[in-house]
Amino acid sequence: MPTDWINPLAYIGLAALTYTTYKFTRQATVYLLPSTLSKTHNPSGQNWALVTGATDGIGFGFSQELCARGFNVILHGRNASKLENRARELGAEFPNCKTEIVVLDVVSVTSAGIDTVASQIRAITEKHGGDLSVLVNNVGGEVKPYTLVDGYTFEEAAMTVDMNAGFMLQITRALLPLLCEGTKGLVLNVSSISAFGMPYISVYSASKGFVDSFTRALEAEFYAESRNVDIMGLRVGQVRTANFGVTRGLFVPNGRILASAALNRVGCGQVIVWAYFWHWVQGLSVELLPRSMILKITTMKIKSLKKLEHGGNKVKNT
Ligand SMILES: NC(=O)c1ccc[n+]([C@@H]2O[C@H](COP(=O)([O-])OP(=O)(O)OC[C@H]3O[C@@H](n4cnc5c(N)ncnc54)[C@H](OP(=O)(O)O)[C@@H]3O)[C@@H](O)[C@H]2O)c1
Repeated sequence: MPTDWINPLAYIGLAALTYTTYKFTRQATVYLLPSTLSKTHNPSGQNWALVTGATDGIGFGFSQELCARGFNVILHGRNASKLENRARELGAEFPNCKTEIVVLDVVSVTSAGIDTVASQIRAITEKHGGDLSVLVNNVGGEVKPYTLVDGYTFEEAAMTVDMNAGFMLQITRALLPLLCEGTKGLVLNVSSISAFGMPYISVYSASKGFVDSFTRALEAEFYAESRNVDIMGLRVGQVRTANFGVTRGLFVPNGRILASAALNRVGCGQVIVWAYFWHWVQGLSVELLPRSMILKITTMKIKSLKKLEHGGNKVKNT
């Protein structure tokens, strides 16, 4: 009688297969579950969302999609006239939504700057009624793409960290009391595939690692304190934007499609989630392939993006 089946290796293999199948299925179902975003709506019907870096790309996509889902939107950026133009565009597309703007450069931001924005946001919700229920920490990007870390100046490195990590931390800290006042709050932190650790964009990559880690820690803290705010991190692959000249395709959505996918993931039960299904499919390779192979592939990809930029295209984020 064959005794192979009692070989302990077979049990280990079976357990590994069961675990992998469970993990894969669990992750895949995330894309089928209905969004619970509407739970943040309050009875007055006046729901406010703040989107940082809202004048372009993914941030403007979030602003459009939040308006489409019944939110009034506060657009944040550093350029007042660009913000006003975007607010007008939203007004034309979504006549029932209110929009407001707040202006603050997120680089070298001060305590006073953050406090002013927080007071402006409180004043906006008090003027119109309703609560700030959603904060989308979207602002970010690469200041000096495709550079070795010692090719950065002190200022460039600090700017990259401010844009991607420092401001997100400070604005979240300052706005949490407001977010806790409403029916239910939600914080969405925009991260990147580069959080895994990528060459030639190490400062940006590490800043996004901070975003992931802060997201997890905050979610754990809120769970421990039973606070009424959901925290979710959004892992993002390549997205075609005005500043990122990659070709659109199945794996490269535009900002609005990405934002819509992200809002559809709210309530999916994962703290950090690939917002867009096809980015998740891409991301599986990071989990399944050996790191040496991933590094070879990402190095080739980043070098080709570098060439693209030198050919005159703007490529800033990954
Ligand atoms: N695009 C991608 O492929 C990709 C991939 C992974 C992750 N991400 C992440 O997604 C987020 C959005 O990226 P995106 O590609 O949509 O960016 P984007 O198109 O370059 O837009 C960035 C937004 O941030 C604002 N901004 C930039 N610097 C600022 C500053 N110092 N102070 C205030 N506002 C500032 C910009 O305002 P101005 O209009 O004034 O410049 C704009 O509204 C970022 O966190 C990025 O890291 C993007």
